[in-house]
Amino acid sequence: APDLSGRHFLKELDFTAEEFRGLIDLAAALKAAKKAGTEVRRLSGKNIALIFEKTSTRTRCAFEVAAADQGASTTYLDPSGSQMGHKESVKDTARVLGRMFDGIEYRGDSQATVDELAEFAGVPVFNGLTDDWHPTQMLADVLTMTEHSAKPLESITFAYLGDARFNMGNSYLVTGALLGMDVRIVAPEAYWPAEEVVAAARELAEASGARLTLTESVAEGVLGADFVVTDVWVSMGEPKEVWDERIAALSPYSVTMDVLRATGNPDVKFLHCLPAYHDLGTKVAREVHDRHGLTELEVSDEVFESAHSVVFDEAENRLHTIKAVLVATLAGPAPTPAGS
Ligand code: CP
Ligand code: NVA
Repeated sequence: APDLSGRHFLKELDFTAEEFRGLIDLAAALKAAKKAGTEVRRLSGKNIALIFEKTSTRTRCAFEVAAADQGASTTYLDPSGSQMGHKESVKDTARVLGRMFDGIEYRGDSQATVDELAEFAGVPVFNGLTDDWHPTQMLADVLTMTEHSAKPLESITFAYLGDARFNMGNSYLVTGALLGMDVRIVAPEAYWPAEEVVAAARELAEASGARLTLTESVAEGVLGADFVVTDVWVSMGEPKEVWDERIAALSPYSVTMDVLRATGNPDVKFLHCLPAYHDLGTKVAREVHDRHGLTELEVSDEVFESAHSVVFDEAENRLHTIKAVLVATLAGPAPTPAGS
């Protein structure tokens, strides 16, 4: 297991490929141990603060269950439940929580906030999603890819379709580049990751041998893909007015059965970090439907519910991978080689 004692988990760029792979291996070992009933609690007596300035199902629950499985306690702070940013600065909050907790998770808009918490807390800080990066999601997605492909990571090709300027697009490009994968960003050019993100990814790719393609062409982008991935077209914190422009620009990049067929790979798998708009199961989806007449947005219901879709394995893997981050950063040196 990687020795990440005392380290933060803020963005993928802070880690070597070896460290990132080490976390995936640790997550796989922890998953196997939990399923076998042999999990060893290595975080007894630890306390972890969970700050959520945006809503969450998977990330919050993964942190809470992972901590409980390992014997740690959690305290959940929702946007209205703390003074941070309203009555108290991020810097002061970091110094207070750092006196009480062994680790702090933060989800919100700004990467600068999670970075500032990390600078002043004196304990490991974990990024549970910002507008720029979603690094714990990447651990889960890569673990899921290894489980659903016989290939070594460097031989895996994945195509990300949709808004690639935000957390998921950025994180996929950089993570694939770090790990030496064949990465396709498939979107209108205006929706590609920012230049500095692409530059950072290209630098990583030179070292790792990753192949990076940014293209507007779905046919070119998905050909030969082992995994097709997407994300919502409108992210948390964005105004609903942007749906109009997103639908106009991104509808050709909706993941349909035709897109999966265009990979030429009958075994292609579909990933989505969730939540997903693939049916009328949410208020937002119904509102969009009433305005635009669309029931399926970034992914069709047919794809979502098909045998290609491994989205619930991916969601489960949030638990095992977040647990790996907690154990690697907070448990100290592993007593056994497997660390579990
Ligand atoms: N994928 C993900 O981060 O889900 P939540 O927003 O439910 O945490
Ligand atoms: N891009 C999405 C990811 C949700 C997990 C958002 O930020 O809302």
